[in-house]
Amino acid sequence: MRVLVTGGLGFIGSETVICLLNEGYEVTVVDALFNSKIAVLERIETITGKKPDFFQVDCCDYEAFKKVFETAKFDAAIHFAGLKAVGESVEKPIEYYENNLVSSINLVKLMKEYGVKNLIFSSSATVYGTPKRVPLVETDPVGHATNPYGETKIMIERILGDFQLANPDFNIALLRYFNPIGAHPSGLLGEDPNGIPNNLMPYISQVAIGKRDYLRVWGGDYPTPDGTGVRDYIHVVDLAEGHMATLKKLEDKPGLVVYNLGTGKGTSVLEAVSAYEKATGAKVPYKILERRSGDVAENYANCDKANTELKWHARFNVEDACRDAYNFQKKNPDGIK
Ligand code: NAD
Ligand code: UD1
Repeated sequence: MRVLVTGGLGFIGSETVICLLNEGYEVTVVDALFNSKIAVLERIETITGKKPDFFQVDCCDYEAFKKVFETAKFDAAIHFAGLKAVGESVEKPIEYYENNLVSSINLVKLMKEYGVKNLIFSSSATVYGTPKRVPLVETDPVGHATNPYGETKIMIERILGDFQLANPDFNIALLRYFNPIGAHPSGLLGEDPNGIPNNLMPYISQVAIGKRDYLRVWGGDYPTPDGTGVRDYIHVVDLAEGHMATLKKLEDKPGLVVYNLGTGKGTSVLEAVSAYEKATGAKVPYKILERRSGDVAENYANCDKANTELKWHARFNVEDACRDAYNFQKKNPDGIK
């Protein structure tokens, strides 16, 4: 079975490519290297002993993308390619709408033309907007994202839903990821943000190795047990394994399916700091500052549907993820070169 993986050299895509290769799938990766490095390909080979086919192609370039479909017969596609920085999406909305929507539309057009009938799409918990209650279930209302990035995920979910309705022989899984963290246990692959990290875990890692002085905790007055924001942090290896389970589910020809992928457990910022210190022995000084605009108090998943229907559970806890994130950060203090 051959799987087309767009964005396969990114943080979550590369981890998933490793799982696919380890499970004996043949893999073709398409990545424009907008937010990843070609060195990731060699590291995938070091870890798995196998090299996926690779095309440096922008999925928005229809003709170039089409040529990839000429190279092999794909049984399924996993669509990770997309721009994902929330703050940047507010500054550059058109770039985000164009890249994320056009790449997705091109992909489904080509899948239809070439008879590739199974698709997994990387959606996000951001589609739920500001949750009215937690834990979030898949049937909770979707809409009113607080930024253009989130809106692209809502729109793509809608486009794929309409496409599947019109093409009932297609099987499409919308996977709503909660907060992916951690790294490959080898320390060879992990989250490699450009500049000052926006997300919690990469920032903590940089504090832990002394690259930054302290963590700025955004808000200590939320209605949560310790006043700091609560999220559902999922180890990226668990998330990658969720894609393996979903690929198997698509073999049952379920039509359109939606799953939350998280741990089902909320962790506060201060709990994450403690877990990091405990798992690594490193010190993570912090200062509690004002709330960050657009943040919600609590966001975590009900994962019963994925647990039952995919027979998948997150295996790792936050401490495991902290240990692996620290290992990656120490081995790659300036990111992947
Ligand atoms: P990432 O930036 O590390 O990986 C995305 C990859 O897609 C990059 O390698 C980038 O170069 C590539 N890419 C972007 N646009 C492209 C295009 N037009 N053509 C070809 N390649 C392109 O991001 P990630 O964290 O691995 O996220 C993967 C997917 O999961 C994204 O769609 C993201 O929105 C979604 N997601 C991520 C998170 C998270 O916290 N990381 C949470 C929810 C959803
Ligand atoms: C953010 C995005 C979300 C995206 C997700 C994964 C926003 C509003 N949301 O989610 O759309 O899907 O990243 O990429 O940007 N925190 C600190 N100090 C920091 C960084 C974070 O205290 O330096 C806190 C935040 O206030 C929050 C928690 O840590 O309570 C997690 O933040 P973050 O990692 O940025 O993820 P989200 O905000 O949940």
